[in-house]
Amino acid sequence: MTHVKTKEKEGSQNKIIMPGDPIEHTSNFIAPRCGNRILIVEDELVTQKMIKDYLLKYGYQVVSVSNVIDANELMAKEEFDLIITDMSIPQMDGIALRKAARNASPLTPVILLSDQGTLENAIQAIQMGAHDFVIKPIVDFKPLKTSIDRALDRKSFMALQDNYQSNLEILVAQQTQELIEKQILLQEYADQLEEVSISIISSLQVALEEKDKYTAGHSRRVTDYSQGIARHMGLSEKEIRLLSTAAQLHDIGKLMIDLSFMNRPGPLSEEEWTMMKKHPVVADRILSPLPFLDEVRPIIRHHHERLDGSGYPDGLVGDQVDKLTQILAVADSFDAMTSSRSYRALFRPEAALAELRRCAGQLYCVEVLDGLVAYLEYNPKLFQK
Ligand SMILES: [Fe+2]
Repeated sequence: MTHVKTKEKEGSQNKIIMPGDPIEHTSNFIAPRCGNRILIVEDELVTQKMIKDYLLKYGYQVVSVSNVIDANELMAKEEFDLIITDMSIPQMDGIALRKAARNASPLTPVILLSDQGTLENAIQAIQMGAHDFVIKPIVDFKPLKTSIDRALDRKSFMALQDNYQSNLEILVAQQTQELIEKQILLQEYADQLEEVSISIISSLQVALEEKDKYTAGHSRRVTDYSQGIARHMGLSEKEIRLLSTAAQLHDIGKLMIDLSFMNRPGPLSEEEWTMMKKHPVVADRILSPLPFLDEVRPIIRHHHERLDGSGYPDGLVGDQVDKLTQILAVADSFDAMTSSRSYRALFRPEAALAELRRCAGQLYCVEVLDGLVAYLEYNPKLFQK
């Protein structure tokens, strides 16, 4: 609250400044704020003129009115840097005007004037968010000037802060957008890198298969069967993608093992079977440095597991062999049975299906076999192998 000073003797330290007095340029002098526009709302015309003349002397742009209607009209048209208003004027009190001012321009400070210096009025003014409360009659204008300067400083600060906040929000939004775009780009690079890596490994495997008339096209066909079964079983696109990659690379372990004995006519010896059974583990080890294949490796490692635990390399049983692995196991077995192999007789597709069916529930998942049958029925040319 700015207290009214009683008029002091001329020449004392607290010299009274009256309208029309010259401006004192002391060390505390605050430069005139010529750009600041101040609205005075005061129905006592003498007081209104005194304040206006005093402020004009300091270079402020001052508009004064004596009623609330005019004040509201002005506030609706332009923004003021400060409003000085009487608390009790006709049509509306100053507190109501303060509300109107806050609605019109939330950052504009308001100084309330009152000839009733009661605590109740002061508290009311504070509650309404008034910047200061000045008691009339104004004898000494210095406190009012100090209050005005503080109010204008606060308004400048609030405007800067508001501007900073707005700019900060825009900056944060821009940077967030840039970050999202960079993340999308990075993800695209990562996806491309994965695709290229899989494609290189797959090419190696295909090259290996093509060297052998018995295995030529094996991975491509196993991939086709796996995808077909998965789609007939209603698996998700993500699952189908994982399964396809596993099918493409499932025999990559054979790259590292000398399996030339596979081309020799006749059944494999126990030692040769032992050697051949290492390829899923070798594949798992070869692919382990590639983190994007972490979900694919278990499918490859276990594609020779069987439901009854008779498979290899880990002897998994039942549900320990997940659905994608069971699909790859069926697709791989069906293609192996319907392709020429040096060490055993070729199955016709119908015979291979019958053989797989005979082992349904024991070695192979019934639901997966149903998926294979549905896929083959949907593609009758596959029966003409
Ligand atoms: Fe295999």
